[in-house]
Amino acid sequence: MKILIVGSGNMGKTYARSFLASRFVTETDLFILDKSREQVEPLTEVSSRNVFDSPGPFISDANIVILAVKPQDFPLLANQIKPFIKSEQLILSIMAGIQISAIITALGVNRVVRCMPNLPAQIGMGMTVFTSSAGIDKRELFTVQNLINTTGKSIYVEDENMIDAATAISGSGPAYVYYFMEAMIQAGVSMGFSPSEAELLVNQTFMGAVHLHNQNELTCQEWIKKVASKGGTTEAALKIFDQFAVDDKIGAGLLAAFERAKELGS
Ligand SMILES: NC(=O)c1ccc[n+]([C@@H]2O[C@H](COP(=O)([O-])OP(=O)(O)OC[C@H]3O[C@@H](n4cnc5c(N)ncnc54)[C@H](OP(=O)(O)O)[C@@H]3O)[C@@H](O)[C@H]2O)c1
Repeated sequence: MKILIVGSGNMGKTYARSFLASRFVTETDLFILDKSREQVEPLTEVSSRNVFDSPGPFISDANIVILAVKPQDFPLLANQIKPFIKSEQLILSIMAGIQISAIITALGVNRVVRCMPNLPAQIGMGMTVFTSSAGIDKRELFTVQNLINTTGKSIYVEDENMIDAATAISGSGPAYVYYFMEAMIQAGVSMGFSPSEAELLVNQTFMGAVHLHNQNELTCQEWIKKVASKGGTTEAALKIFDQFAVDDKIGAGLLAAFERAKELGS
């Protein structure tokens, strides 16, 4: 199975490395197209014979073509690669906000899988939500999911609108976590810890809390009750969060991200 990754930036490199490290794709079957060769240079795992800086007939040989350029670069890219794309090739797009119908029209293809990964894919801890056009059989979808899962976990959704919802939750999600962590680090420093001590306290607290949550059936609310005893310190903090309706504000932020994802896609 020959795989071509178009765009060797953050995500393109992540995919290339994950496919090869998992041995799901062999070195001879992985091809990269990026307009600048310097971008591909850090990818020492990929054979230089398989790296291209301009479109050519090699594109037609790929069973799966992965589109990993920025959404705004897609119209130009589509014009450049369309002469080499065959209608039966499977296209896997990770571009935010570009709908399946737009890819079908721009490339003259029939079969497109669209997915929304997130940044922790870089370390095999990514979360990807994906959907597909008609005409892709279960076996092919399974192959695509295996490829995606080399970067972490994934779920399939029938409704393409859910990709916009996933963009708001898991796509942008790492930034929300860092926002919350940063606020806790700042609070730690204001209480007298050094920045590096505060960072360690917060990092380990996030990791420990998530791992603990994953190892048990308890809900977040049940875990909160386990930490917060009546009249205690945690309750004092939670009271302030409730007073300022922090949960509602987080919800409103995520809805704004959802609306923006829909706007960008239309
Ligand atoms: N980064 C994330 O966390 C994340 C998460 C989910 C989804 N995504 C999606 O993943 C896609 C890639 O994101 P990224 O952060 O990896 O972008 P990136 O770092 O900018 O990488 C894109 C690469 O494609 C190259 N390129 C642009 N136009 C090209 C063309 N016509 N032919 C060949 N190569 C071309 C770029 O070259 P130049 O730099 O020279 O332009 C760059 O090397 C985006 O559509 C984004 O929406 C990213």
